[in-house]
Order: sequence, then structure tokens, then C-alpha cells
Amino acid sequence: MKGPSTNVIHEAEGGFRRADPLTLPIYETTTFLFESAEEVRAYNEGRSDKFLYSRYGNPTVTAVEATLAALEHAEAAVLLGSGMAATATTLFALLKAGDEVVCSSAIYGGTLHLIAELLPRFGVAARFVRPEDLTRASALLGPRTRLVWFESPINPTLRCVDIAAIAALCREAGVVSVVDNTFASPINQQPIALGVDLVMHSATKYLNGHSDVTAGVMAGPAALVAPIAGARKMLGGVLDPQAAYALGRGLKTLAVRIARHNENAMAVARWLEGDARVARVLYPGLASHPDHEVARAQMSGFGGMVCVELDGGLPRAARFFDRLQLVRRAASLGGVESLCSLPVLTSQWGHSEEQLREAGVTAGMARLSVGLEDVEDLIADLDQALE
Ligand SMILES: Cc1ncc(COP(=O)(O)O)c(C=O)c1O
Repeated sequence: MKGPSTNVIHEAEGGFRRADPLTLPIYETTTFLFESAEEVRAYNEGRSDKFLYSRYGNPTVTAVEATLAALEHAEAAVLLGSGMAATATTLFALLKAGDEVVCSSAIYGGTLHLIAELLPRFGVAARFVRPEDLTRASALLGPRTRLVWFESPINPTLRCVDIAAIAALCREAGVVSVVDNTFASPINQQPIALGVDLVMHSATKYLNGHSDVTAGVMAGPAALVAPIAGARKMLGGVLDPQAAYALGRGLKTLAVRIARHNENAMAVARWLEGDARVARVLYPGLASHPDHEVARAQMSGFGGMVCVELDGGLPRAARFFDRLQLVRRAASLGGVESLCSLPVLTSQWGHSEEQLREAGVTAGMARLSVGLEDVEDLIADLDQALE
């Protein structure tokens, strides 16, 4: 007869019966059991498909990675603990001292800070190129350029760049191209089919879709994803199995959510465009958008993000923001609920005047993440907030 402590620690394991659940099980365990030293050796030598330790790999996380790879038509995908973990891990995996990384000057602020401030401390030179110059080979590529990072549509201005043209220039020069596809989602835009090497997402946004998971993903050819998975093991930015499960559940409704985001955002953008109190509406689906033709050529839907510019700078944008009732004041995007943020106070906070100018961001901008509510209710709220 074993003691009570031994029983509570080990008895349940004897009582566990394997089952075939309909939904993805959450493997909430840090480590996995082996039968023998030979099994461990087989794992280490790549002769086994077993799992060893959840920082190296976990069945729940691996299953969701396979779903994400399929969504992006990629050979492989890796999940990380945030979009920024995906970005940082990729840059550390693929770059070394002496290399140059080229980044669009209009980019999510966190990416800009990482590339402009952290990478140079490790000997990686950072160069920023305006979005309109990304398709000019002489502006894009230098002798030490190893990787090009860009977004389309761009946070928060919704500017779009020609993904196929940038990817082709990079491919010809043997430079890795990476696009942040967060704003479009894989339903509206398929960058790998356009020739890009790697596709990144803040899975925190549309992929999860319910504003309750922080995660990031990088998808692409197995030969590029493998070193990123290797760096993830060393840098440690893994995703917890609970979060991977929630993300996998959110993904099941991605296509239907995106269809409704597209529809609602188009209706909101059209309504805003017709309102004299609004100086400018930026939505890739509007014919007035400066990159409408680029967006039409490479997107099958225009997404849920709308940027409004109001005359009167930050005080006027802040008044609109403060008056919102149904649309919530919050920094993220891509969830079922509509959110509004002021880019100069959130996604572009800490930028210099020059960095804001290069990104095309003004203090009068308000960024809307149009959710899945009834669109008449959203428009009524925007209407009263503009008064
Ligand atoms: C376009 C874009 N890329 C990357 C990120 C970073 O993702 P995360 O917040 O999941 O680290 C964000 C966050 O807002 C974003 O908007």
C-alpha cells in the first residue's frame, strides 16, 4: 500500500484512459514520458515523432501550426507567444552581424522600434524605405541587404504595397522577403502565392478573433521555418497550449468572421466618406484610396480596418474617441467587437515627428477595427461621436 502523497501524485496516471476526442485536446504538460534511454536518443537524433519538452514542441501547438500553414498555403508554420515574438525570433534566426535589414518606413510601431533600436545593438544595420519606393530595386536593395520586412495593408494608414513586385525583386537578389499579413488575414490575401518567402501574423488579431489570446505566427518554406523554430527553442518565446487551443478554436470561424468584417467595414467606410465632418477616410476598398488598384489586384476582400482623419489634429480626434459609446476605446484590433484607437497614442507612440511623417501618420487619425455588430448600430455610434 503506497502513501497518500504517492497515490495522489501517481494514481491518476494509472487511471487515465486514452480517448479519441472530437476537438483538439489541450496537452497542458511541460514534459513528456519516455520508455527508455533508447527512445530519448531516437528523439534527439530525429528518428522519432515523439515530444520531449513543451518549449521544443507540444501536440496542441503543433496541430494549430499545421492549420495555420494550410491557411497560408505554406509548407510549415511556427507559433510564438506574440506577434512581436514571431518578428524578433525570425530576425534573430535569419540575420547576423554585418547584415542589413530593410524595413518599410510605414510599419507597425513595435516592429519599427525593434528594427531601429534593438537590432543595431547586435551589429545588424537597419534601413527604412518609404512604401512607394519599395518596388524600386535601387532603393530597396543594398550590397548587404539580407532581409526585407513590410506590411500590406499598413497599420494604421491602410496603405497597400505591391507584394508580388517586392517579392520578385527580393527573390532575384537572393534576399528573404517577409510580409506582415495581420491586417488582411489569410482569407483576404495570400502572400505566398504572390511570391513572398515568409508570412507573419499577430495572431492576437483576426486569426484568434476574440481579443483573448496573445500569439504570433510565421509561415513559409520548411527550410526557412526550421531555423526560426530552432531560434524559438533558444529564445523561448513559445505559445502556451491553452492559448494554442483557443487560437485553434477561433480559427474555425475565421472565414465567416472575415466575410462579415469586410462587409461591415465597407459599409462604415462608405458612410464616413459621405460625411462632411470627416476630412479623409482611408479604406483599401474605396475607389478614393490611393492604393485601391494595388489592393484590388492582390486582395479578395479589403478587411475590417478603417482609418479616419479629422481636421483639428489630436484634440479633435480625441473628442471623437472620447464620445464613442458602442465602439470601445482600446489598442488592439481584429476581434468581434469594434474598437477605436488613436495611432499617435498607441501603435505609433514614441515615434519622432520624422518617423510619423515617413509613416504617413497624423495626429488627427482615428483607427477603427470594425467588428461583427449590426452595422446600423455602429454607424449610429460614429454619427453621434462626430457631433
Ligand atoms: C500589424 C501588426 N503587426 C504586429 C503586431 C504585434 O503583435 P503582438 O501585439 O501580437 O505582439 C501588431 C500589434 O498591434 C500589429 O498591429
